[in-house]
Amino acid sequence: MTVNRRVIAITGAGGTLGAALATQLVSEAGTDLVLSDFSEASLAPTVNGLPAAAGEVATMLADVSEIEQVEAVVAHAVERFGRLDVLVSNAGILSPNGRIHNLATEDWERAFRVNVMGAVNGIKAAVGVMRPQKSGSIILTASVSGLTAWSHAAPYCATKAAVIQLAKVAAVEYARDGIRVNCVCPGTFRSGIHEGLPPEALDAIAVKHPLGLGTASDMVGAYSYLASDASRWTTGSAIVVDGGYSAP
Ligand SMILES: NC(=O)c1ccc[n+]([C@@H]2O[C@H](COP(=O)([O-])OP(=O)(O)OC[C@H]3O[C@@H](n4cnc5c(N)ncnc54)[C@H](O)[C@@H]3O)[C@@H](O)[C@H]2O)c1
Repeated sequence: MTVNRRVIAITGAGGTLGAALATQLVSEAGTDLVLSDFSEASLAPTVNGLPAAAGEVATMLADVSEIEQVEAVVAHAVERFGRLDVLVSNAGILSPNGRIHNLATEDWERAFRVNVMGAVNGIKAAVGVMRPQKSGSIILTASVSGLTAWSHAAPYCATKAAVIQLAKVAAVEYARDGIRVNCVCPGTFRSGIHEGLPPEALDAIAVKHPLGLGTASDMVGAYSYLASDASRWTTGSAIVVDGGYSAP
């Protein structure tokens, strides 16, 4: 490792957005990646799809709702590459469709364990390395659903709103340690998260996006910016990339 190299860890890297982020970021000069997901079946295609002649890539299976497993991902980054410059806490799940009173306690708990505690665990693990380094960028994947009300999706909306607030508080808490914390709030793009839904289920959502549904590749610019030095004075931000969904 040379001092000019940059090490980025991505959770949920086996998913649609995670794969797009890995492809973009590893193509940027001097970048090594640690890719993690709790599903080996989805992580392998991400790794196989990466461009040749890019940076080095390490992989690890980890469930973000378990702090020890997230700490192991960060420890792996340090063992393999000597540091961790950027953590992209990206793993997330949709909650089942239903009004608040019809959703089971387990549905609520699962959404909070993965979407909120996954981000909390990422921050806890990353700052353990970034504070001594006196530098780092933590990027949380929130959602425009954390800023707007989606009927029948209360756990998802509530957890993504929590992620936005978590990024803001963490930004304030760790600024003096040289660590920036931001989140990205995507609008809807087709991904593995919609698996099992009929294709037309997204049609009603598509018409609410003035620019139509996005794609995962429409999101990567915001992450690329937050992972770079160009964003050195950006912290506590929720960057909305939603094709105009939240504009009206
Ligand atoms: N697709 C959209 O329209 C949309 C919109 C806004 C925000 N998001 C967010 O984008 C992020 C990526 O989702 P995506 O759309 O690429 O969906 P996806 O289902 O394709 O990817 C999610 C990945 O997270 C992994 N994952 C799930 N639970 C995990 C856990 N406990 N530990 C580790 N990994 C776990 C899955 O295996 C999967 O590979 C999520 O946080 C999601 O909430 C998606």
